[in-house]
Amino acid sequence: TVHPLVLFMPSGKRGRFPVGTPVLEAARRLGVYVESVCGGRATCGRCQVAVQEGNFAKHGIVSSDDHLSPVGPKEEHYDRVRGLPEGRRLSCSALILGDLVIDVPQDTVINAQVVRKAADERVFDRNAAIRMCYVEVEEPDMEKPLGDLDRLKSALSHDWHFDDLDVDFHLIPKVQSILRKGEWKVTAAIHKDREDGRPRLIALYPGLKNEAYGIACDIGSTTIAMHLSSLLSGRTVASSGTSNPQIRFGEDLMSRVSYVMMNPDGREAMTAAVREALNGLIDKVCVEGGISRADILDSVFVGNPIMHHLFLGIDPTELGGAPFALAVSGAVKVRSSEIGLSMNEGTRTYMLPCIAGHVGADAAAATLSEGPHRQDEMMLLVDIGTNAEIVLGNRTRVIAASSPTGPAFEGAEISSGQRAAAGAIERVRIDPVTLEPRFRVIGVEQWSDEPGFADAAAATGVTGICGSGIIEVIAEMYLAGIISEDGVVDGSLAGRSPRIVASGRTFSYLLHDGEPRITVTQNDVRAIQLAKAALYAGVKLLMDKQGVTQVDRIGLAGAFGTFIDPKYAMVLGLIPDCDLEKVKAVGNAAGTGARMCLLNREYRREIEETVRKIDKIETALEPRFQEHFVAAMAVPNKVDAFPHLSA
Ligand code: FES
Repeated sequence: TVHPLVLFMPSGKRGRFPVGTPVLEAARRLGVYVESVCGGRATCGRCQVAVQEGNFAKHGIVSSDDHLSPVGPKEEHYDRVRGLPEGRRLSCSALILGDLVIDVPQDTVINAQVVRKAADERVFDRNAAIRMCYVEVEEPDMEKPLGDLDRLKSALSHDWHFDDLDVDFHLIPKVQSILRKGEWKVTAAIHKDREDGRPRLIALYPGLKNEAYGIACDIGSTTIAMHLSSLLSGRTVASSGTSNPQIRFGEDLMSRVSYVMMNPDGREAMTAAVREALNGLIDKVCVEGGISRADILDSVFVGNPIMHHLFLGIDPTELGGAPFALAVSGAVKVRSSEIGLSMNEGTRTYMLPCIAGHVGADAAAATLSEGPHRQDEMMLLVDIGTNAEIVLGNRTRVIAASSPTGPAFEGAEISSGQRAAAGAIERVRIDPVTLEPRFRVIGVEQWSDEPGFADAAAATGVTGICGSGIIEVIAEMYLAGIISEDGVVDGSLAGRSPRIVASGRTFSYLLHDGEPRITVTQNDVRAIQLAKAALYAGVKLLMDKQGVTQVDRIGLAGAFGTFIDPKYAMVLGLIPDCDLEKVKAVGNAAGTGARMCLLNREYRREIEETVRKIDKIETALEPRFQEHFVAAMAVPNKVDAFPHLSA
């Protein structure tokens, strides 16, 4: 006899199963991930599926073309008490009677308060490191002197096949009261993410507990962003962000390393500061998500190498100079309470691996999210901060490096530079004939030459110029002929336009004649030239190593990448020539990668494996870096052409 064919969507996995097989079991055998907390007792409701094709018997009467068993008494009880949405069945109770196409619902990400503009709303396959397992434990018996914990372990082994279970010690003093409180029915949180494959009991709840949460967090040197997700539905239930309190010890990474070197308690102070901020964020997302800290059972963190070290309590001094040795490059797994985070007592923290001394766990997470290693196209991934982290590769080979761009792109070292905040000029256009500018300011809707601008801008003022504004104004100055290919402000234009003003022996461009006066000076242009040349030279080195003269796709990560206009980045020669359609801001790709690792531990293995295989280049040691750097000082470049710009 030919058994019925069952196809699971959206994975497309399929197989034939004997009539009467529970759908959940078929899913398990095919490796389709369907959650179940109660172990098929039809009480948790986590295993819901929908039927896309084929019929299913909802109540009692079975007709010959019903392909799924009618709703039995247990499922009916669940429906009565908790309510099954229209068209849904409990896969643990529904039995296969004929050919079927089953939809495994992927609860969509509902993310009302998005931390960053470009939060990723992709939905990922789930296979969290935490499983919630409901069991009914045998009551104690004078005849069988087995301990409460041991009877719990044997129930978990019998119902869930967790053998050789390790138990967190903190649970042992509590086991008796929890078992009695739940009248011998409990839900065990099992953590399984160890190299040896051994599962570990990390939390225990009386009765049925069918929720578990986790946090994914990106520790940036400027901003920390955290997402709270349900480990069972995959849904992001809360997001929050805060500025990194380490800023008070030093604006950029290197000044934080120097702070550690100069102050005996510097490392401790910065570690304490970031952990305190993280605990504050944990509180915030818990309040927003309406849960308690103890409900957080897993956590994933990413950050650049220096943030990574300071968070884990490791001295980052070695990262301040060659050979930039990391204390640990592989993934770090630690009990969260050991690093001062307050969640559930048994919660574990997973920190992604670092790629190299300057290319951190954040770059690894961005790589996981954007997946150059999963595609044929040659993809360039750039995260621009004080250091640009650069990854270039495809399915065959991935290479990574960092380039010392300095803080100019973040508005530092620029005469009127500021962080991207209300009042900052973020967009600029310059009329090539009159050389008159028009611009847009963060927090104001109108362009500067539109009616109502003055009134609207009165609230914020026009306070300075942020990273994306600097890129645009210098690119526009180049397009309008105000600066030469070498970046020199053309003083001969001073007679033609009052916007070109002498300052000492050089000239500046007057962008905003108000209070404060905002000018782009010759030094500003130089600072951007140096930064973009460093970035481009790093990219070129990687292209050399890959043996390519062209990249197929570019992802710009991070806040800066989100706000710059790819066209202007290319006009300036910040990034290599590429089809503009294929240059995309990828938002907080690092945060997305962290969330992927939270929801599916297979992504942890994927990135660990990928990072091991990534070739690391130390730009400072490469003889051709200098050559590329010099060529890239010109706008857009002395030697490389940008055919996609003229197109
Ligand atoms: Fe819990 Fe089906 S597995 S209701």
